[in-house]
Amino acid sequence: MVKKIAILTSGGDCAGLNAVIRAVTLRAHNKYNWEVYGIKDGTLGLLKDPLDVIKLKPQNFEGSLMRMGGTFLGSNNKGNPFKKIIRNGKRIDSSDLVIEGFKKLGIDALIGIGGDGSLKILQSITKKGNINFVGIPKTIDNDVKHNELSIGYDTAVDVATNALDMLQPTAASHRRVMILEVMGRDAGHIALNAGIAGGADVILIPEIQYSIKSIADHIEKIRSKGRNHALIVVAEAVKKENGIKATVKYVDGEVRLGGIGNYLGDEIYKITDSETRVTVLGHVQRGAQPTHRDRLIASAFGVYAVDLIAKKKFNRVVVWKDRGVKDLMLSQVAGYSKTVQKNDPLIKVAEGLGIYIGETN
Ligand code: F6P
Repeated sequence: MVKKIAILTSGGDCAGLNAVIRAVTLRAHNKYNWEVYGIKDGTLGLLKDPLDVIKLKPQNFEGSLMRMGGTFLGSNNKGNPFKKIIRNGKRIDSSDLVIEGFKKLGIDALIGIGGDGSLKILQSITKKGNINFVGIPKTIDNDVKHNELSIGYDTAVDVATNALDMLQPTAASHRRVMILEVMGRDAGHIALNAGIAGGADVILIPEIQYSIKSIADHIEKIRSKGRNHALIVVAEAVKKENGIKATVKYVDGEVRLGGIGNYLGDEIYKITDSETRVTVLGHVQRGAQPTHRDRLIASAFGVYAVDLIAKKKFNRVVVWKDRGVKDLMLSQVAGYSKTVQKNDPLIKVAEGLGIYIGETN
């Protein structure tokens, strides 16, 4: 008999996480009368002594939590639990400590909310610790394989679309070319969807090559027809024309994606004489208030995940497919990503609207 379950959020945060924690808590309490524990900061809460966990009750969600971005449990996209750490002078694999934490908590099953990378780590750790596991996909990048919609993606697209809505009037006022750099890691889903929804003239995604010359020609064409401004959306992982990714080295030594917007701004300015300005949207795509769609998917995923545990269906991951929730083997999904395919119908839509989307032929 399942009596006690735990939930954690892992990897980069996004909108909708609080809504899924709520759904899990409500379903587990109302239908099954189980105890639910929220583990703080991904698996890091399990390394603490005493364990950093909170008992979750339906009353926790009577306020505004479900409407808020981020995750009130905290998350972590750095602490790979398989890395070695020093404890009491000894070098140990921290995954053993995480597993020890799970055992101390005495749970019957764990629900882990993560992207492709976090789900892979959680798969390994729960396998090693023999812990019953169900995964829920979240990521603004929407790049989890076999899953049409991840929690957080819809909100991120909405934020990027709003940004284009706000850039257009100022672009028109100053006759400028406005470039919006969006997140998405190696997938162009956010750029493609927001670009179409936000009336972009050029959409650049990592999956399709482009040429600066073609962008310049496209802008000239727009101007020759009488429009004085243009909007460009570029995904952060789009490479420079020389095939190198634009990155920034931070003071902590980490190299992260960033800078493709500024690169394009300079190159376009050089050959078109158009004044360019660049907006890097960044983490506002993650922290915004969740859209109704993200709250719906979060709620549907949470309820379904709890029901999977009740049926003792473990090592599964819930996915959104054909307007509903399904479940797949974790091994089919964890660690595999999904980029924009060449035959994505939205590429045809973009082309149909006269948007330059790269060298598609
Ligand atoms: O994977 C989600 C994501 O927001 C990516 O789109 C982005 O490249 C990355 O995380 C940013 O990570 P961080 O929060 O470490 O800056």
